[in-house]
Amino acid sequence: MIKFPKDFLWGAATSSHQVEGDNLNNDWWEWERQGKSKEPSGKACRHYTLYREDLDLAKQLGHNAHRFSVEWSRIEPKEGVFDPQELEHYRRVIRAVKERGMEPLVTLHHFTSPQWFAARGGWENRGLVKYYLRYVEYIVGNLASDVRFWITINEPNIYAYLSYVTGVWPPQKKEPLAACRVMGNFAQAHINAYRAIKGIYKKNGLAEPMISIAQNMQALEACSPGIRNKLAVYLRDRIFNFAFINKVARKKALDFIGLNYYNRGLVEVRGWGVRNLFFDLCESNHKPLPRNSLGWDIYPEGLYLLLRKLKRYRLPVFILENGICTEDDALRWDFIRAHLDSAYRAIKDGVKVMGYIYWSLMDNYEWDKGFAPRFGLIGIDYATYERKVRPSAEKFAGACRTGSLDE
Ligand code: FCB
Repeated sequence: MIKFPKDFLWGAATSSHQVEGDNLNNDWWEWERQGKSKEPSGKACRHYTLYREDLDLAKQLGHNAHRFSVEWSRIEPKEGVFDPQELEHYRRVIRAVKERGMEPLVTLHHFTSPQWFAARGGWENRGLVKYYLRYVEYIVGNLASDVRFWITINEPNIYAYLSYVTGVWPPQKKEPLAACRVMGNFAQAHINAYRAIKGIYKKNGLAEPMISIAQNMQALEACSPGIRNKLAVYLRDRIFNFAFINKVARKKALDFIGLNYYNRGLVEVRGWGVRNLFFDLCESNHKPLPRNSLGWDIYPEGLYLLLRKLKRYRLPVFILENGICTEDDALRWDFIRAHLDSAYRAIKDGVKVMGYIYWSLMDNYEWDKGFAPRFGLIGIDYATYERKVRPSAEKFAGACRTGSLDE
């Protein structure tokens, strides 16, 4: 029998734009309206109105934690105009999570920003970071007493890469230098938000909160031998996986490390240029692995390797996302189980892993890919919005309820 620590947190995640529906005032909605996405998010999963039922299911599945995000564009639909009704909505969500015996893990920015913020240059514009801070202070100032875990920003690296390097997400730029600026602004935003949140808890005499970001990491590997590939792996690991964490850890602005892990990244470069070293993707695949329905390599060992690397920060690590999109639910539990085994090995090696959050509680709107990828423990029929708990969710529930796995 494999036993996880007693206080281990188990659960699943969602994000506002991917599940709520009708996020009329954010940059993604506008982009979708212009016909630039595969399909618009529309009503998504109607989770904005069905959150109680969805949280009932999470509870039935044995979860003791639940990650979700607050939608900034609902809270502040126009610059400087805050909507108290939306604040109350999220207060009700947080209370509903707690009433069901789950720890709320609240993300403050999960890829979407208000349209007014994007229109003024968005995350590229250092002068706008203060608006994010004002929003954070509003949310945390009002909700602190009900929340212990805050995730300031979800995956700054993925956002910068897809929005400013490959340009497949809004604002669709292909300017690596802008991506660097975005990363710098996110770091500044996080560090300031971290301090502001700590200040609010102190001022109100509340117990210390736990604050971090959700850092996406890939297990990078050279596809074929050669010094150039090795160098590219080294550089990408430093920049993509670790630069942000290093920067904010130096400022003592992390209480734990939030890790989102999905896949292996195979590296093969075709030249010595900076662009080659940083961005060339592997065209051949000399080391094939099983893949999810989006073609991402499934590599549970990579989670173990990354957790081991994180040990040197001497901070607890919280797996805030890990998941598979597949048409074949039988693969889902195998995926989860193999990644839990990796987490357990790391725990045995002395890494303090606080919990495991599966992505996602339910099928949802997978950004530019639309609704086709199925990541959910719970399936959604988008014609009727009916929820169906998948067999893999029941298997995961066994681990959540007992905190253990069979050998
Ligand atoms: C992560 C995102 C999340 C979801 C999964 C599949 O990068 O944080 O919103 O799209 O990938």
